[in-house]
Amino acid sequence: MIPTARAAQLTMNREGIRCLAAEELGLPTSSYAFADSLNELQTAIDAGIGYPCFVKPVMSSSGKGQSFLRGPQDVQPAWDYALQSGRVKEARVIVESCVPFDYEITQLTVRALGASGEVKTHFCEPIGHVQINGDYVESWQPQPMSPLALQRARDIARRVTGALGGRGIFGVEIFVKDDNVWFSEVSPRPHDTGLVTLATQRLSEFELHARAILGLPVDTSLRRPGASAVIYGGMAEQGIAFEGVAEALAVPESDLRLFGKPESFLKRRMGVAVASADTIGEARSRAKRAASCVRPVKA
Ligand SMILES: Nc1ncnc2c1ncn2[C@@H]1O[C@H](COP(=O)(O)OP(=O)(O)OP(=O)(O)O)[C@@H](O)[C@H]1O
Ligand SMILES: [Mg+2]
Repeated sequence: MIPTARAAQLTMNREGIRCLAAEELGLPTSSYAFADSLNELQTAIDAGIGYPCFVKPVMSSSGKGQSFLRGPQDVQPAWDYALQSGRVKEARVIVESCVPFDYEITQLTVRALGASGEVKTHFCEPIGHVQINGDYVESWQPQPMSPLALQRARDIARRVTGALGGRGIFGVEIFVKDDNVWFSEVSPRPHDTGLVTLATQRLSEFELHARAILGLPVDTSLRRPGASAVIYGGMAEQGIAFEGVAEALAVPESDLRLFGKPESFLKRRMGVAVASADTIGEARSRAKRAASCVRPVKA
């Protein structure tokens, strides 16, 4: 099991990873509670989590079943939505206070063998990203950070990946405000926001993962600033082709990954455009331009 069976089990369930991070390791996180019923959820919010807050099924990803609650009127709909959309039909949610972050990052962290056979921790440049309704729409690398915030983010990443163990790449999600950082969650594998590394790093997150697993040397260095932008389905259809590919690839330093999913939904992620440039701003605008050229159509 890569990185370890325990890491897969703990990170699959928000309860496992949150308890490890906040209670065992003492890392800063949002305040949180778990609830098995609507009544318990309301009690947890009233007892200290407060509004605004987030409710998420303990087993879910890509924002599925996640709600942002502004006040008491949002509690019942959030509970119903979490139950409908969790990965398993388990009536358990986490409720988290809202962290008022300036920006959020993914700290890609690689645990790989060093020259003398011991596991060493390597860090990629931080990746900034924008999430809408709990799902990533755009990312870029490097995200500028104060030296203290970067050091704190990497301390968190080193400790949480060290506790999970094994070898491979991890996507550590962290919220940042000024010099303060909060651990959010971690994937024990390449991360969706890390697709940008296809355009930015000498070795992409996938190559780093493979090398770490195989016991080969890794190099996390950045080659060039870059960005990624998501291509959505935009319609509900089976059997998908793409128009606008030539126009997209005419954008300088751009590339596409079309995922080959057989069915499109309005908000299904069907592919991603990546681009590099001299500056992060130019890379973001190139990636968005390339993504906007591509249109999924019925084949
Ligand atoms: N406590 C919080 N405070 C502020 N923002 C939050 C909080 N929890 C979630 N968010 C926002 O919602 C996004 C998605 O949350 P989270 O990563 O927990 O969900 P997810 O379903 O695992 O999503 P993904 O699979 O895309 O990582 C976060 O990246 C962040 O933008
Ligand atoms: Mg996440």
